[in-house]
Amino acid sequence: MSSTTVTLDDLLPEAQAAFAAAPTAAALEDAKALFLGKTGRVTELLKGMAALSVEEKKTRGAQINVLKTGIEAALNARRSALAEADLQRQLKAEAIDVTLPGRAPGFMGSVHPITRCWARIEQIFGELGFDVGDGPEVETDWFNFTALNNPPNHPARSMQDTFYVDLTDTDGQPYCLRTHTSPMQVRYALQHAKRHAEALKRGELPEIRVIVPGRTYRVDSDATHSPMFHQFEGLWLGENVSFADLKSTYLHFCKQFFEADDIVLRFRPSYFPFTEPSAEMDIRFESGPLAGKWLEVSGSGQVHPNVVRNMGLDPERYVGFAFGSGIDRLAMLRYGVSDLRQFFEGDLRFLGQFKG
Ligand code: DAH
Repeated sequence: MSSTTVTLDDLLPEAQAAFAAAPTAAALEDAKALFLGKTGRVTELLKGMAALSVEEKKTRGAQINVLKTGIEAALNARRSALAEADLQRQLKAEAIDVTLPGRAPGFMGSVHPITRCWARIEQIFGELGFDVGDGPEVETDWFNFTALNNPPNHPARSMQDTFYVDLTDTDGQPYCLRTHTSPMQVRYALQHAKRHAEALKRGELPEIRVIVPGRTYRVDSDATHSPMFHQFEGLWLGENVSFADLKSTYLHFCKQFFEADDIVLRFRPSYFPFTEPSAEMDIRFESGPLAGKWLEVSGSGQVHPNVVRNMGLDPERYVGFAFGSGIDRLAMLRYGVSDLRQFFEGDLRFLGQFKG
């Protein structure tokens, strides 16, 4: 068949069919050679033009060019389609299933239950306008006992046996590990003495309203006592602060702390050198697992005038209450833990269980 007899119209569909049948980019390039290569069909057509007259060359040349453009367009369309298919295949192969659950990290540690309770206490009293104080665990005999109306040789000292440190203060008294957070009552008042004195001069009577959570120490160790334990002290002094304020404040705290509304609180007469009168505060849950029993939660009382005097304040003007509660004991009640020692053994199986 002479090249001049080739029907140009047939070639484009032929090329399109050959390109469409090429399954890969390499096969497509082979198919392209069949039409546009050195010995390809279109090239042959062009070669065949040599024998034509000038007039014929003109028409034939234009027709071949249209055909060539059509074939090239078909080639490019197929190239893009194959490239797109390749991309899709690759994307599918490398797809990440974002709906798969992630690999959980191992146990990352957790906030200690005592620390949780400590934070709750600061939060609740903070909302009532109480400042948060902090003070030394190695304390002078004066702050720990004497300033709290508990002088040397007073029998009340035997209520709290502690660890002594091989150091003496300027009065020759030994330093001790504080037996309670109560020394912070006097320390805190003295820390703010200047500000209070200035306010008093202006005719104001600034209140003292503070809680002091912290570590305390005693020579004691059994299921409900640990030689190191945690307390928080509360102190509210002002012009007219009464036992009614103590009761409503502490009951509010208990309800928030235990997340229970049906709690009642009672005072039970007691003795502490630094308060007069003194009382234990007991609470009772009206429902829930602890319902029915009176539970002792805090020592308390009206701050003794001698203590107010040691704060540098006038006991005729400053009255109010103090209390001291065991954080560990509150934590045991909140979480239903019966052996205090578990809090301090560092067993992650135990410590990992606490939330809230
Ligand atoms: N400090 C006392 C103790 O550890 C508890 C206490 C009782 C603190 C009465 C007070 C208070 O502030 O007023 O046993």
